[in-house]
Amino acid sequence: MRAIIGTDPEEAARRLSAGQLVALPTETVYGLGGNALNATAVGNIFSAKNRPSFDPLILHQSTPDRVLAYADSVPDEAQQLAGACWPGPLTLVLPRAAAIPDLVTSGLDTVALRVPAHPLIREVLDRVDFPVAAPSANPFGYVSPVTAAHVADQLGDRIDYILDGGPCRVGLESTIVAFPRGEPTVLRKGGTAVEDIESVLGRAVAVRTVSSSRPAAPGMLVSHYSPGIALRVVDRAGERGTPDHAVVRFGGGTETRGPHDYDLSARGDLDEAARNLFTVLRQLATGGYGSATVELVPEHGLGRAINDRLRRASK
Ligand code: TXA
Ligand code: MG
Repeated sequence: MRAIIGTDPEEAARRLSAGQLVALPTETVYGLGGNALNATAVGNIFSAKNRPSFDPLILHQSTPDRVLAYADSVPDEAQQLAGACWPGPLTLVLPRAAAIPDLVTSGLDTVALRVPAHPLIREVLDRVDFPVAAPSANPFGYVSPVTAAHVADQLGDRIDYILDGGPCRVGLESTIVAFPRGEPTVLRKGGTAVEDIESVLGRAVAVRTVSSSRPAAPGMLVSHYSPGIALRVVDRAGERGTPDHAVVRFGGGTETRGPHDYDLSARGDLDEAARNLFTVLRQLATGGYGSATVELVPEHGLGRAINDRLRRASK
């Protein structure tokens, strides 16, 4: 099988309804979608990604009401975040409803829920009467895809259809917020800045993304974003890139450098850096380099999520 790449949300919805796997564009990264209420489709998602069954999936639907129907209860602060941030790059972890197959939640008593913002996936979700389970559309442990071509490269022979919605606008996975003992807690830094969550809630939130063999968000393993070469993170890189050693800067300006010098955003823009991050990590992986030096970015806004990915990639 070789995936068909198309732009028809109607066809994507039809295939999902028939139990097939479809890659879907979201504003964060491409997802590998399947009917979350169909245990066979969910099992196929895990096997297409080589994903361990202890790592649960996010459910997607087109409106807060439609997706929150799969939570057993919704704390006030979750409701506030849903109202302020959805559709958008935020995932809420809430007590699960009984209708969801155990495989989706890896047997946890909570479920991850999200309303994505990309217009094409929203058209798909509007057309189906089930939530769509969608992990990032990459083999387990690899960098998330931000174009249809990335999906086709890595999973093209394992899925039926790729809905091409162009390059992802945000470029980083959603921020995950859970409510253990009622306390809002960030489990994964992502496309919604922690500062924005705090300003919606009017208070500081806990950030607990340090991973171990049993992390709170099981997919946040330390080495999760490894491009497969030795990667060193620094505050400022002095050297030039060579064919064997790439250098990735942030805010390096217009100075002309060689073909092995990359810049996440020459003008020092964090949103642009987020958008470019996974594409540059892929270039490091496929460019024939033995190693790379990567500059960290300022530790605020999306910079916190970017640095989190860079530090994990360097482990
Ligand atoms: O932006 C995104 O969130 C993308 C797009 C496609 O929506 N999806 C995505 O899915 O990044 P995935 O499967 O690559 O990452 C989901 C993360 C994993 O780290 C998983 O462990 C965590 O969510 N997760 C899922 N359910 C959870 C739960 N009940 N409690 C804690 N963490 C959970
Ligand atoms: Mg992922």
